Parts: sequence; C-alpha cells; structure tokens
Amino acid sequence: MKGYWIITYGCRANRSDSERISSLLESIGYKLTNNNPDLVVINLCSIRQQAVDRALSQIEKVKSSGTKIILTGCILDHDRKRIEGKVDFVLKIKDLAKWPKALGITKNLDIKDYFEIDPKYENRFSAQIPIMTGCDNFCTYCVVPYTRGREKSRPFKEIIIEAEKAIASGCKEIWLLGQNVNSYKFDLSELLKRIDSITGDFWISFLSSHPKDLDEKTLNIMHSSQKVMKYLNLPVQAGDDLILKKMNRPYTISEYKKSIEMVMEKIPEVTLSTDVIVGFPGETESAFNNTAKLFEEIKFDMAYISKYSPRPGTPSFKMKDDVPYSEKSRRLRVLTDILKKTALEKNKKMEGREELILVQSKDTGRTRGYKPVRFNGTNDLIGSFVKVKIEKALPWGLNAKL
Ligand code: 5AD
Ligand code: SF4
Repeated sequence: MKGYWIITYGCRANRSDSERISSLLESIGYKLTNNNPDLVVINLCSIRQQAVDRALSQIEKVKSSGTKIILTGCILDHDRKRIEGKVDFVLKIKDLAKWPKALGITKNLDIKDYFEIDPKYENRFSAQIPIMTGCDNFCTYCVVPYTRGREKSRPFKEIIIEAEKAIASGCKEIWLLGQNVNSYKFDLSELLKRIDSITGDFWISFLSSHPKDLDEKTLNIMHSSQKVMKYLNLPVQAGDDLILKKMNRPYTISEYKKSIEMVMEKIPEVTLSTDVIVGFPGETESAFNNTAKLFEEIKFDMAYISKYSPRPGTPSFKMKDDVPYSEKSRRLRVLTDILKKTALEKNKKMEGREELILVQSKDTGRTRGYKPVRFNGTNDLIGSFVKVKIEKALPWGLNAKL
C-alpha cells in the first residue's frame, strides 16, 4: 500500500479541502503516513508571502527524499509559476475528481463538483462544511477572488445531508464555512435554522462574515437557538475610513460600530473576533491610531492581526508598500497589547461561572463562545459536553475545574 501525507497552509477552507483530498486518496488505496510517504500533497495558501516561502522550503525538504509532490490549493498564478518546476503535479482542487487519472489510476468519479466527495474529517468530533466558495468582493489586498474565483453556493439540501451524516457519526461541532458566509445564496439564517432542527447534541458555527452582509435574521437565530454558538468573527480589516476605502471595504467605521451595537444588543454574551491588517499602503500613524482606538472601544475577545503582504495581481500590489516592516511589527504589537487587556477584562467576567464546554483534548475544551478552556479532564471525555467551573481568567483563555 502506498503512503500519503498532506501539508496544509492557510485557513479552515483549505483544511476542509484537505479532508476531501484525504478521502479521495484513501479511496484509491493510499494510506495516511508521515513516515517516508510515496506522495506528499502541498495544499498552499497564497494570501501572504510568508506561507508561500514556508511552503517552498518544505518542498525542497520533501524533494530531497525522492517523494512525489502534488501542489494544490488557493494559489496565485505568480506563485504557481514560481513553484511548478519543483513539484511533480500541479492539480486544481476543483478538479479533485480527476486526480486519480493524473496519478495513473483508473477510477471514474461521476460527480459535478468536488464537494460531492465525502470528506474524511481531521477531527471526528468536528465537521467543517463548506457552504460556499470564492468571493465577489475584491478587497484590493486579497487573492481569493483570483485563486478561488467568483462566489459559488452549495445546494441547501447537499449541506443538510452532509450535516446529518456528520451528526449521525458523532460530530459535536458543525462549522459552516465560506469566504463570505453571509452572502450564501440560499439564506444562511434558514440554513442555521434547518441544521438547528436536526436531533442531537451538537453546536453550530459559521465563518467568516462580511460587515456589509451581516443581517438581523442571522443574529436572531444566534440568539434564539440552543445550538448555534455565541461566537462571531466580523473582520474589520482597518479602523480608518480612508484605508477602508483604499481596501475596497464598502463600510465606514461608524457603520461597523453600529453593526457591533446591534450584535451586542441581541447577544450580549457573544465572543467577538475580528481580522485586521496593519501597514496597508498609505496607513499613516494617525490612520493606525484609529484602528488602535477602535480596538480600545470595541474590546474584541480575539483578533487575527496580519502584517500587510503585497500579493502580485491584486489591485493594492500597484500601491506603494510604504510602511516599513519594523513599523508593521510595532503596530501588530500595539494591537496585540490592547487585545490582551480587553480580552482579559472580558474573560474576568466569566470567573466563578459554570460553563458547558465541548472537550477537545484530555485537558482542553471550548465554551459555546469558542473560548479556550484548560481543565482537569480525562481522555474518555474527549468529544463530550461537560460542565466546568471557571476559576481563573487569562487573556487567551480560561482555567476551570470539573
Ligand atoms: N496581507 C495581509 N493580510 C491579508 N489578509 C488577506 N490578504 C492579506 C494580505 N495581502 C488577511 C485578512 C483576511 C485574512 C484571512 O487574511 O485580514 O481576513
Ligand atoms: Fe478576500 Fe475581501 Fe473576499 Fe474576504 S471579503 S475573501 S478579504 S476579497
């Protein structure tokens, strides 16, 4: 039997794609192993230069062992051209059904879309279900509209079937994924309602939301459902109106704050996270200070802060990358320090409370607000819901006792 290994870069969408690659390779006789595999799949992410550089050095390492390499993923043409000479196959994830043929194996998969391939979940208690792919927003810094193409929503029924199967097989957590989940063509709130009605003990969450598309109906179901998680990722990207405009983000900070007010009104206990980029072209000290001010005001629980990385082929690549790297690092540290303070402040409010957590490993779990918890657990609790008492708040999580 031949062995395979997958190295995945980037976000949950790529991780979810890797789950379908796994099941396809296993259906044609490959077995997962990191001990001298015959085949290594590099599932690349072109979002930032750093991931591409890391992948390149990984490829050099794998290549020296004589293993065959497939390059796939969310790849910019520019990066593909740089890497294709170093690998054996460059295959598109959309063409997953055709991979057996490329590998010299005759197997006919009669499917229209690679989503029809059943995934092999990386964590058997957590299902990552793509509900749409691609993006029509064309934020000026972002590769996604070029790598994944235009928005495409999966049929409602297909998603329900995948969710039902996952729950029947013991999954306790359903993540509905999309670059822009709120613009799911067949209504995200209806989808949440329908999955909520499936019998069983499980939580549902969704990622990522665009501030312009977040609607009241989705917040209402987050409020009323017993299963939808109290966790919202609402990427702001910058705290300054002028920079938002240059990023082609069609909202102002005052509109963003209004959305947050609406969220807090409906779901006061929500865990709020955001994505932000520091050092976008033209981000002056005072523009950055507006982002810092926004962080102080909103008090996010979590934030994914990135240093701006110019990507060839995106509109912002033509703008001057005029914030020095050291200054991007400083801005990242300033935001991290504010976040550390506000997250701790919010976590402190949970001290003394009893919380239901979903156990992820022997001694870790997550609350319904997706807060990481450390506790005195045991292996047999993995994948179950248990009640714990929160004893101590930390900036990046909570310590608790059974
Ligand atoms: N440089 C830095 N960060 C980026 N992101 C997307 N494109 C870039 C880029 N060119 C960040 C955004 C997005 C997250 C997935 O990655 O914050 O929300
Ligand atoms: Fe990229 Fe913007 Fe689409 Fe998000 S909304 S995937 S940042 S283009």
